[in-house]
Parts: sequence; structure tokens; C-alpha cells
Amino acid sequence: MKSSELRSFEDYQKAYELSVKEPEIFWEEQAMKLKWIKKWDKTLQWNFDEPHIKWFEGGKFNITENCLDRHLEKRGNKIALIWEPNDPKERFLRLTYKELYDKVCQMANVLKRNGISKGDVVCIYMPMIPELAISVLACARIGAIHSVVFAGFSASALAGRIQDAKAKLILTSDGLNRGAKQIPTKRIVDEALEHCPSVQKVIVVDRLGWAVDMIEGRDVYLHNELPMVDKHCPPEPMDAEDTLFILYTSGSTGKPKGVVHTIGGYAVFVDYTFRNVFQMDESDIYWCTADIGWVTGHSYIVYGPLLAGATTTMFEGIPTYPDPGRFWQVIDKYGITHFYTAPTAIRSLMAAGEDHVLSYSLDSLKVIGSVGEPINEEAWHWYNIHVGKEKCPIVDTWWQTETAGIMISSLAGVTPTKPTYAAYPLPGVQPVLLDGEGNELHGNNVEGYLCIKYPWPGILRTTYGDHDRCRQTYFSNYKGYYFTGDGAKRDENGLYRIIGRVDDVINVSGHRFGTAEIENAININKKVVESAVVGYPHDIKGQGIYAFVILWNENDENESPERVRSEINETITAEIGKIAKPDKIQIVRGLPKTRSGKIMRRILRKIAENDLSNLGDISTLLDPTVVEEIIEGRI
Ligand code: WTA
Repeated sequence: MKSSELRSFEDYQKAYELSVKEPEIFWEEQAMKLKWIKKWDKTLQWNFDEPHIKWFEGGKFNITENCLDRHLEKRGNKIALIWEPNDPKERFLRLTYKELYDKVCQMANVLKRNGISKGDVVCIYMPMIPELAISVLACARIGAIHSVVFAGFSASALAGRIQDAKAKLILTSDGLNRGAKQIPTKRIVDEALEHCPSVQKVIVVDRLGWAVDMIEGRDVYLHNELPMVDKHCPPEPMDAEDTLFILYTSGSTGKPKGVVHTIGGYAVFVDYTFRNVFQMDESDIYWCTADIGWVTGHSYIVYGPLLAGATTTMFEGIPTYPDPGRFWQVIDKYGITHFYTAPTAIRSLMAAGEDHVLSYSLDSLKVIGSVGEPINEEAWHWYNIHVGKEKCPIVDTWWQTETAGIMISSLAGVTPTKPTYAAYPLPGVQPVLLDGEGNELHGNNVEGYLCIKYPWPGILRTTYGDHDRCRQTYFSNYKGYYFTGDGAKRDENGLYRIIGRVDDVINVSGHRFGTAEIENAININKKVVESAVVGYPHDIKGQGIYAFVILWNENDENESPERVRSEINETITAEIGKIAKPDKIQIVRGLPKTRSGKIMRRILRKIAENDLSNLGDISTLLDPTVVEEIIEGRI
């Protein structure tokens, strides 16, 4: 029996119509499917000017009561979470809903024992181990705000996020496995904490059995704490508009910002979208390969599947370890029915050759999904033919950290799909395309800036500690609209295709970076005068990072370009993390600038793309000759 309410294209059309005509009635109906401690007084209040958005105000709610307690009677012995380790030879873990419930309650009591209460911010910097999901839920259980930081970020990036959120406690592990490598997570935390006075406690999970430095009075091991606490922990009654979590994401300017999501609306939106996009049966097994450090993991590894009472899978490793058949092996091992991954993973496994995927049956698969970046035609077909065996609908789901959940996607087997198209908006989501002046483009066969004109329950409420930044970034470009930063096209049938970012955000393997963020990191290197970073098309990663760098002493004979490049890479690794390392670093004498000193990124982007046909008029530049030099020296 499926848990979705939309089972046919007609159901979808009816729901969509109602959701536009009577959005409040539509979302009230969805909200009623969850358990409220007290029903809300006011369904929606909003304006996009401040912005001020409140859903289900006055309602009392706990999201873990809905993810766990609510299922115990019917699904207590159903598997809630499967955990597959990095090393296929290590033992996997399966937790039933009852077992997960117990573990979350215990972890919640460990947090309380270590001084955490409602409203405190807890930073979680952990690999993909069960304790990560359990920690997230434990925070929500007691009303603490979680801020998960992807464990690939550097000490400096971690410190910035801890400071911004003023986190009181960090949950981490001794180290982590990543393919054949092991990374000293706790040491990175220690380094970060040299600059984070707000942190009072560190709870360490013993993942690798390493002897790590423990600071007395600050650091404790989870395994020493667990025996000290009770198994029982009631869910804290929270206001619908209390903050559930902060998640840092990059934008086109400045430092990464903490996107804030609140409890009630987030739960309703993620529950509704999960059930209707994936269309799972009760006995199905779902696997999303994202990391819980990103929004996809929050919404569609932890909260969405558990709200729906589904079985969700967590994978500690990487797609290519011990070989590029790893994903397919895991699918066969557990009989995965619903598989959700990123185009970059598909492309890298496609490049590894068909033999790997053809060695596994993949018979269990029913639905396959894609998220994080536009999926190109070739990868779409490969996924459809070799993974889905042309019998599994592909859901290409477009959404963002800021939207909390899926906004545009086909509903598996219910609404039409088209290669490279995310297709139709979900009920309750009202996308529009705008021209450069902010006019709505009506009708079909149009292309423009993708905006949303009405609030949905999962919309971000603010950016942590800086509400004006939220207004400026998302609500000021086009008055009265939420601006996504993406460009999109609507085809003759009204299906949407997302073209990609139209701002200074680069999407590398589904990870977002601001060009300014990478430039700031490069400029920290003392040899660098100035830099400019642009994205360019990359076969595997979707976009690669191309950095143009001016040095103080370009003619220094002791400086080989290789050495400078590797030093710049080291700086970026230290400032942000390895994931932000440029694919190409070109050392240049100057950058193309206007007479007012503005860098002409359009020209650099063309050069990086190797498209020299139409550079535009360069005669008005401060120094047009630098363009020739850059072209000659391009990598
Ligand atoms: C891009 C990830 C095309 C887009 C959930 C968006 C996509 C950014 C798709 C958000 C898709 C995500 N097709 N592009 N199906 N999904 N994007 O915040 O540019 O990490 O703005 O959220 O990824 O990335 P974020």
C-alpha cells in the first residue's frame, strides 16, 4: 500500500489546482496527516518584503514524535535505518523503528546530561555513521538546534560555522573512513576549537578505535556517557515556528550563510514531497547516497523517509571504493527499490565503464532519482538504460538548501518525465520565469530567471543572525518573489528544465561554492595579489573551478608555477576543504577589468570554457592586452 495521495496524473492536476486556488486549505490538509500536540491557530502569515513568513503559528509539534513514536505501534519492528560501512567486509547495521527510537532517546539524554537544552545550538561534524542521524534526531527531540557541518570541511571552515551559530556543543568522531583513506576528524575539531569560545563540550564517537587527545572537562566519549543515562526521553513540545536547524550554504557574496528552517512547515513539506515524489510501498527500501552534511541528507535520508515510516539507508563510503561497482553491489545486497543519487556520481560511474554495473542484477529497483545539479542528456540515458533497465521512472528533483524540499520533479510513475527536465512543480509550489526587468514570462516555450511567487511551508525563514542578508539575497532582486539564483526554461508542455545558476555560484559535483568565497581563500596566500574564479563545464563534476591568479612576484625564478599552484591548493584546503580545490590555476599578469576596476567575469568564463568566438568588445577595458595574454596562457 503506497503512502502517497497522488496516484494519477489527474490526482496531481486536481491537487495542483487546489494548491494554487486555496493554498492554505491545501497545506492544512497535508499538515493534518502529522501528529500535532496542539493544532495551529493561524495557517499562514507572510510578506516577501521583509521577508516575514510563518506557517502553522500557535501549533505545538515535535518532529521526532512524528518520525519515531508515531510509528511504533504499527512499525516498531520494521527496519527504520540500514547502515552500510565504507568497507564492504565490515558488518552492516540494521535498526528497527523501536531500536532507533531508543537510541535517539538515549542520545537526547546524553545531550541533556552535557548541558544542552531547548534553543541551544549543537554542531555536528561527523562521518556517515548511524550516530550522525541519531544525533540530528536527538537534538530535535529536546528542541536543540542542529547545525550539521559536512565532515569534508577544513578546521577553518568549521570554526567559522561554529562561531556564527555560537554552538555550545560539538558532536564528532575520532576519525573517519573515506574509501582507502582515514581522516582525523577529532584533530580537525580541536584545531577549530582554538577559535571557538562558545563551545563547552565535545562528545566523541569512537569510530576507528584511535587514541585521540581528550581535553579534560571538555571532551567525553559517547560510549562512556550512554550507560549513565535513561532510555526514556519525552519529545519536547515545540512551537511550529521554532528553529529546527541551521545549515550553512554558499551564495554569490561573502561568507557562507546559515539557512534557517523551522519545525512545523519543514516537517509538513518534507513529508508531503517525500511520499509523493518517491511513491513507496510499505515494504520498499530506500537509499539516498547524499551526505547528511548537505540538505539532501537532512530532508531525504533522515526526516522525509522517517516521517513516512520508510526504511532508509545510510552509506559511509564513496562510489568508487573498493571499486566502481560499489553502489550496484549495495543495491543488490539490500534489495534497494528506490535509489536517489547525484548526476556527478552517475557520470563518474559511467566513465568507469559498463562492466561494473552489468555485473549486478539491480532487479529490485523501482524508482531512480537525481538531485543537486542539472543532469545532462548522456548521463540521463545511461542511468535509464543501465541502472533503471528502462523500467524505472527517473525523478529529476530540483530544489535547494533554502527550499527544504523538492520543488520541481516528476512524481514517480504518476506524472510525465522528459530527459534533462525536472518537469512539473509539486502541488503548493508556484514557479515563475522572469525576464531581466522582472516581468513574468507567460505561456510556454520561454526561458528566464526562476522565481517562486507564493510561500510553501519549507521556505527558509531567515539567514542566521542576519535577516537583512536573507532579504537582500533572495527577496530584493525581484520584488514580491523569492529568487532562486537559477535560470530555467519552460517547454511547449509547461515542463521545466533547470539550466543552472545565473549568479556567481559554482556547482561542483553538486556542492555549492561562491566564486568570492574561493577567491577570498586564494587571496589569503601571501604570494597572491588578486584572483578571479569562474566555473566551466566539466565532464564529471558538472562544473569545474578555474582560477586566474596574479602574483606579487611573477618573475621570481625560484618560483615554479607548479609550486605556486600547489601552495594555493594548500591554502584552499586549509580555508575551505579539499572539495573546493580549483581544477585549473592560471597565473596571469593582469585581469580584464573595466575602467572602474570591475573584473569582467564574462570574458574569463568564455576563456575558461574555451569559447573564444564571442568575447564581446574588449577595447573599453583598462588594459585590453591582458586578454590576449590570458588566452595564450590558458590551460
Ligand atoms: C542545483 C541541493 C538542476 C541548482 C538539493 C540549485 C539542480 C542548487 C537540481 C541547489 C536539479 C539542484 N536540476 N539543478 N535536479 N537540483 N540543482 O542548495 O542550481 O546544495 O540552485 O541543494 O543545485 O543546491 P543545494
